Amino acid sequence: MNSHIPYAKQVISQEDIKGVIKTLKSDFLTQGKKTVDFEKKLTQYTKSKFAVSLNSATSALQLSYLSLGLEKDDLILTSPISFVATTNAALHCGAKVDFIDIDNTFCIDVDKLESNLKIRKKNNQLLPKIVIPVHLGGFSCRMKEINYLSKKYNFKVVEDASHAIGGTYNNHKIGSCKYSDLTVFSFHPVKIITTGEGGAVLTNKNYLYKKILSMRSHGIIRNKNSSKKFWLYKQKNIGWNYRMNDIQASLGITQLKKINNFIKIRKDIAHYYYKELKDLPLKFQYINKKTQPSWHLFVIQVDQEIRDKLFYFLKSRNIQSNLHYIPIYKHPYYKSNYKKKSKFDYSEKYYSSSISLPMHAGLKKTQQKKIIRVLKEFFKKN
Ligand SMILES: Cc1ncc(COP(=O)(O)O)c(C=O)c1O
Repeated sequence: MNSHIPYAKQVISQEDIKGVIKTLKSDFLTQGKKTVDFEKKLTQYTKSKFAVSLNSATSALQLSYLSLGLEKDDLILTSPISFVATTNAALHCGAKVDFIDIDNTFCIDVDKLESNLKIRKKNNQLLPKIVIPVHLGGFSCRMKEINYLSKKYNFKVVEDASHAIGGTYNNHKIGSCKYSDLTVFSFHPVKIITTGEGGAVLTNKNYLYKKILSMRSHGIIRNKNSSKKFWLYKQKNIGWNYRMNDIQASLGITQLKKINNFIKIRKDIAHYYYKELKDLPLKFQYINKKTQPSWHLFVIQVDQEIRDKLFYFLKSRNIQSNLHYIPIYKHPYYKSNYKKKSKFDYSEKYYSSSISLPMHAGLKKTQQKKIIRVLKEFFKKN
């Protein structure tokens, strides 16, 4: 068997297809009941009070920041090992971006965050308006400590949980917003569940929910109780069309039904990798004891000298691997617009030594065995 093994891929069932077709045959393709139903199911699943479905996690991040009042010359802090959307959304608000290094959890190093905040305060420097912990690969950041720091240094917390729906932290589902103001999910096809493209924001705060709801659709509020002037609507703020449509939401509803099974399959895949790769010279992501990951990514770290060689070796055997992510400050746009003040040793090490192996709920045992075989073969030669 020599067919291509993708690093990630959606799993679509007959139930998903049926649900989408039913919506296509219905009266509403957008702004119907499906998005409302999907949002309700997201709140039931995560035990958060409110959910707003959106057309991507990127727009979900932007509206989250705006709802918290992020504006020109404010500051956000996050880790450099993330997708550029995390920080781009802040730049769109006119804010400044700075980074805190990661640690062996591949998530923000909370001790370094604390010392950075301490120094800023001591030197009367700008403190962040928002800190964005990124749950890389679906492994939760140390949210309790971040929450504590948010009170001490007066900042808001937006969890970039694009990878993490289905995971838990301290026995709370990620998305419960137990330790944050807002949480963002992505439903891009490589994520845990998909709506094609799509995202959502979850919160327990009514005023943030209302702001995001309004900004999602041009800043327009419709008065549902006004039976006389049924045609009336008012634009009260400035907004966008960032809506999820009903076709996407109907896919989200049936995907969400399967999430626990998806996570179980991913967990089994991860444990099989751990078991079979334990004797190879590799390092794995450290799992903090309070988290049950969603197992979005399976990252291995190898000696920097052989990392690229391993990429190509896997590719030559039709195995697609990937790198999540290039440190954001290394992108040309950030190189010319962001002045790097710290060294980010761990992020640099991560960048030069990491590889994401194939990990998705559709990965077959035979495919995983092949990946393991090829890895063993590589290390025998190198
Ligand atoms: C950490 C992180 N944040 C944000 C995003 C943006 O998600 P979307 O593609 O749904 O806009 C991604 C997508 O890969 C991501 O990995």
